[in-house]
Amino acid sequence: MTSTFTNTPGEGAAASAGAAAPPAVTAVEVSKVYGSGDAAVHALRGVSVAFARGAFTAIMGPSGSGKSTLMHCLAGLDTVSGGRVMLGDAELTGLKDRQLTLLRRDRIGFIFQAFNLLPTLTAEQNIRLPLELAGRRADQAWFDRVVDVVGLRDRLGHRPNQLSGGQQQRVACARALVARPEVIFADEPTGNLDSRAGAEVLGFLRASVREMGQTIVMVTHDPVAASYADRVVFLRDGEIVSEIFQPTPDAVLDRLSRITGGSVGSSPQSEQGLGAERC
Ligand SMILES: Nc1ncnc2c1ncn2[C@@H]1O[C@H](COP(=O)(O)OP(=O)(O)O)[C@@H](O)[C@H]1O
Ligand SMILES: [Mg+2]
Repeated sequence: MTSTFTNTPGEGAAASAGAAAPPAVTAVEVSKVYGSGDAAVHALRGVSVAFARGAFTAIMGPSGSGKSTLMHCLAGLDTVSGGRVMLGDAELTGLKDRQLTLLRRDRIGFIFQAFNLLPTLTAEQNIRLPLELAGRRADQAWFDRVVDVVGLRDRLGHRPNQLSGGQQQRVACARALVARPEVIFADEPTGNLDSRAGAEVLGFLRASVREMGQTIVMVTHDPVAASYADRVVFLRDGEIVSEIFQPTPDAVLDRLSRITGGSVGSSPQSEQGLGAERC
């Protein structure tokens, strides 16, 4: 008895994608079990969810609810124990390692909590690197547009250690965007940033969705970060239990606290509380 959570056609920025286009990413009854026997951990228990093209979706839930596991399964970084994952029309589940590596390289972008920039390369070289490794050339007009949206024009020649944390994460965002992936997965992209730099990065991610039609799926435990998204889906104990469209921080906090039986504090800053609670 699992319901499928999906963006309604015409929701927010997704409207321009057209009715016939499949969702950017679809999970059908995805399960994930770590270990076996008595030690088995059921990290995902039949998750069905679809992520519309051109939409910014946040995945939230208490610590241990399966957020990272779901993201890794959706992005082909980990195998599923059951069910299917589709990227557009292509089924990821069942692909061989080599095919999966190519698919990730060519069609998916990643932004991690640790910025993962190469220290000896300039910002521009970091941004261009994935395309070069894939043997593709960055379209110059697109490169310029991405650089301007992230506001890095005057920092392109700087190396990571000459940039602030927020600027480094914006380089990582530009690196993901410049390849025009079908979807960008971000796992706690503002986890290492102070709130001002975090707001900058989130504002930029939202702009890339609104202005460039990018599809983004972001894992976060921060209600303020989630409020930048068009939609928030909530995980608890490996199941999607709720969703909100056009979220505000208060609405997200309220829903989280219902999901966890009122164990979440009322302040958006109460991340420790979120992380510590487990239903
Ligand atoms: N590699 C692993 N081996 C065993 N258990 C794991 C592994 N990764 C995650 N888990 C377990 O799966 C559940 C979901 O974890 P995770 O997806 O990391 O949650 P979240 O990102 O929401 O904090 C947790 O109970 C966690 O302990
Ligand atoms: Mg996690």
